[in-house]
Amino acid sequence: MRKILVTSALPYANGPIHLGHLLEYIQTDIWVRFQKMRGEQCTYVCADDAHGTAIMLRAEKEGLTPEALIDRVNQEHQNDFSDFLIHFDNYYSTHSEENKTLSAHIYNACKDAGKIATRTITQAFDPEKQLFLADRFIKGTCPKCKTPDQYGDNCEACGATYTPGELIDPVSAISGATPIDKDSEHFFFKLPEFQDFLKEWTRSGTLQPQIANKLSEWLDAGLQEWDISRDAPYFGFEIPGQSGKYFYVWLDAPIGYMASFKNLCDKREDLDFDAYWKAGSDAELYHFIGKDIINFHALFWPAMLSCANFRTPSAVFAHGFVTVNGKKMSKSRGTFIKARTYLEHLDPEYLRYYFAAKLTSNVDDLDLNLEDFAQRVNSDLVGKVVNIASRCAGFISKRFDGKLSSDSSEPELLQKFIDAGDAIAQRYEEREFGKAIRLIMELADQANQYIDEQAPWVVAKQEGRDAELQQICSNGINMFRQLMIYLAPVLPAMTEKAEAFLNEELSWSSRHTLLLGHQINKFKAMMTRVEMPKIDAMLEASKEAVVEEMALNATKETRKAPGGENIADEIGFEDFAKVDLRIARIVTAEHVKGADKLLKLTLDLGTETRQVFSGIKSAYQPEDLEGKLTVLVANLKPRKMKFGLSEGMVLAAGPGGKDIWLLEPHPGAQPGMRIM
Ligand code: 2FM
Ligand code: ZN
Repeated sequence: MRKILVTSALPYANGPIHLGHLLEYIQTDIWVRFQKMRGEQCTYVCADDAHGTAIMLRAEKEGLTPEALIDRVNQEHQNDFSDFLIHFDNYYSTHSEENKTLSAHIYNACKDAGKIATRTITQAFDPEKQLFLADRFIKGTCPKCKTPDQYGDNCEACGATYTPGELIDPVSAISGATPIDKDSEHFFFKLPEFQDFLKEWTRSGTLQPQIANKLSEWLDAGLQEWDISRDAPYFGFEIPGQSGKYFYVWLDAPIGYMASFKNLCDKREDLDFDAYWKAGSDAELYHFIGKDIINFHALFWPAMLSCANFRTPSAVFAHGFVTVNGKKMSKSRGTFIKARTYLEHLDPEYLRYYFAAKLTSNVDDLDLNLEDFAQRVNSDLVGKVVNIASRCAGFISKRFDGKLSSDSSEPELLQKFIDAGDAIAQRYEEREFGKAIRLIMELADQANQYIDEQAPWVVAKQEGRDAELQQICSNGINMFRQLMIYLAPVLPAMTEKAEAFLNEELSWSSRHTLLLGHQINKFKAMMTRVEMPKIDAMLEASKEAVVEEMALNATKETRKAPGGENIADEIGFEDFAKVDLRIARIVTAEHVKGADKLLKLTLDLGTETRQVFSGIKSAYQPEDLEGKLTVLVANLKPRKMKFGLSEGMVLAAGPGGKDIWLLEPHPGAQPGMRIM
């Protein structure tokens, strides 16, 4: 039995899981389920990546402690994963005692080995927030094309890259204050001293060829020391013996893999931490990650591990990004799809199947083409696989009391199905899931062809052919069973339904036998067709989620001007004059089914009525709104939402939650009046 430890990248604890994340967790989960089905000791651990400035600021914005935020998000993440049938043996957090101890241990080992340097560096500092600013927290005017409001390292308008120091009129994106330069002592991991070790390690079969080539370019260009410290205030672990200095989130993140496993070992007798992690361990260790974080996993991580006398990964498996309909996921197109939004509309196994059918072992991006998605799932799973069982099951239960024939009339055909298992297993092992699925669907085609040729529905009508009918249908059901064994890593829920139908538990080795003279159960639908309207509804809901988010942020994300008032960026009078603000009377206000934050308002504008969806549900009961006067942006372009058209926007202010106040004009005002 192999001992295998598998991880997926730890998602940040400040945002929801979306389809881009899911590719990786689904890929890993399929691989792990395959190993487990084959009887290996395979353990899959993960955790939330809970530290860093972004999480600290997010908590502050929500009026929470970082601990409260990361606990809430951890629960949300676990719910999403479990509903996508992603099974972790342990799901933990990097903000844990185990991780603190292990991080300190690894840091101390590197320090004792002379691999930590200290020196003073100068960085941008927000004098108001009293915080050092990473590049992405500085905004200003692009030095090249002069577009305002660009982030510290590159311009979205002209694509120029630069240092924050080159920005014109830089400001802190957090407070709006002008950053100053400030010195501080930092700690560095001496990565260049691992050059030879890494050259060897990255060429020793641990990486995919494309990745190994990329790394050899970096290695040839020479490595830089890695800044592993951050100054307070920071949400993370304090560096041992260095008050006010914290480990950079990327130092303790991969150590979080070990910590999650350690936490599991303390709960499980059969797992020994050292057996998996000590240098020289014979266990296998695999990290599934996105191609964008390869430097952390294939340079810093193996160097730190080896320095602290731990084993290094057996391999790092990188994948590409998800695109939707050929383009980057986009909030305005509705293709930035959260796990939860997907689940509210579609079956998770559709996505598991589609990703599997398109996954390879390389780092190419994977396109989720939504029409192809529906077509593929419907034709493969519903049209081919389930169809085999549904065409045979009825005869077995009605005519033979649910009993399969006691021998097979097609041993050769069935042997082909059994033999195919080796090639399929090899594809799974190599993470060539698309190739595995192709082999499985070829078998499904053969099974359907067999049933077409034998036409059990014809045989059933002819007298004296009962034994033949039972044989044909039993063969069909045995072929279906083989297919389900091969699809089980991809489709765990459908496999359970198939097991209930077959009255038998499936494992990879059960493929060697046939079900003969066996009692099966009544056939129940195992998968329904993907319906295009549900996909459209999911896209609409994704757009709506963005509107909700904006409604929420509009009341929160204000920028502090030097004078201290919360104001947004300046616009000219001409821009302001374009906004048509009108008095409106709220005629009706209603809850919107399926929307957490929206109310549907019908507004009287004097000369016309408008329908507007407004994110104010947390602060108002619909009945309290009816009859009130408010202010409407009347010439905002109508927006098509899942629930209908929103024709304008009512104005409100406040920090959010219960505190959102609708703007209320003087009672003497009349609906339709323009506000100047
Ligand atoms: O890029 C990310 O989303 C990181 N949170 C991944 C961390 S992976 C591991 F190193 F912890
Ligand atoms: Zn520019």
